[in-house]
Amino acid sequence: MSDPRGIKRRYQQFAETECKGYSDAYYRLALAVAGDDEVVDFIAAMPATQPNLFLASVQFLTGPHGMPTTGPELRAFLRRRGGEVGDVMRSRRTQTNEVGRCAVLLPALPSGPLALLEVGASAGLCLLLDQFHYEFGSTSVGVASSPVRLRCTVAGPVPLPTTIPQIVWRQGLDLNPMNVHDDEAVRWLLACVWPDHDERRRRLEGAIEVARARPPAVRAGDLVDDLPAVLAEVPDNAQLVVFHSAVLSYVSLDRRQAFAEVLATASKRRDIVWLSNEASGIVREVTALAPGLGELRFLLGRTRFTGGQRRDELLALAHPHGAELTWL
Ligand SMILES: C[S@@+](CC[C@H](N)C(=O)[O-])C[C@H]1O[C@@H](n2cnc3c(N)ncnc32)[C@H](O)[C@@H]1O
Repeated sequence: MSDPRGIKRRYQQFAETECKGYSDAYYRLALAVAGDDEVVDFIAAMPATQPNLFLASVQFLTGPHGMPTTGPELRAFLRRRGGEVGDVMRSRRTQTNEVGRCAVLLPALPSGPLALLEVGASAGLCLLLDQFHYEFGSTSVGVASSPVRLRCTVAGPVPLPTTIPQIVWRQGLDLNPMNVHDDEAVRWLLACVWPDHDERRRRLEGAIEVARARPPAVRAGDLVDDLPAVLAEVPDNAQLVVFHSAVLSYVSLDRRQAFAEVLATASKRRDIVWLSNEASGIVREVTALAPGLGELRFLLGRTRFTGGQRRDELLALAHPHGAELTWL
């Protein structure tokens, strides 16, 4: 049983820092949770209590347009269907596969040919970044006919790409890969999109369509223990880029360090570019480059490993779902 006071604080903070001005639906619901002892006690009895997991579990059962919209509706819903919400919360984890983040990663990619390895890839949709269409303000790039259209507002000297680098090899690694041919997995991916974010839902549906035609390979495994075996398979004739978004926050500081050590060791054989797109504080060496910056944004870090040595850069601040990018 988690501490109910901690849960109240967490939902209040989620409402104020992540939802306010971005999702009225989740802003209202998260605040309603924080003020309702009965709902908080329900969440506190779950093995994992984070807002995205709880709210996605409700949405999994109702669909985006049938979700409770007020505190009393949410409490009544839990009285009726709390058993089912609990089953979903116990059997699923937050696996939001947000293709909007590709717009943040694209300007940071080296020129090709590239070998892409994504850890914490979920369904691997971000590995398909060369299949999408991008609008960075008035600049467009990518596949004009793609069903995935990503719009990203830019500020600062973003090195906007004129073409997408050639990708000759791609592989994902995830504790629990999501299969785009499994209807229940797809329903869960859609439930992880916030209910009033219609554009995000449309582009996720588009990315699933692209992935169904050409599924990205995502292997089941841990980002530390199983990384060396995957690294050993990367072809020599391409620049290796290892990347992740919203993943390292799910592992302990020790495991984050162990992950970087695996990359450092592998870089004795070949150069590696590591792109990290994570909340402030998650990659310590990148956060240290700009203390106090980006509390509410993701930090886009680029670390070059050569011969076992690392060189870190903080490239940009980014909206967590890729709606905005400020190059530093
Ligand atoms: C919030 S999702 C982000 C998915 C994807 N990176 C994106 O940005 O769309 C986090 C993913 O990390 C995976 N994950 C968490 N811990 C992991 C670990 N130790 N090893 C591999 N994957 C992990 C989860 O299974 C989940 O799919």
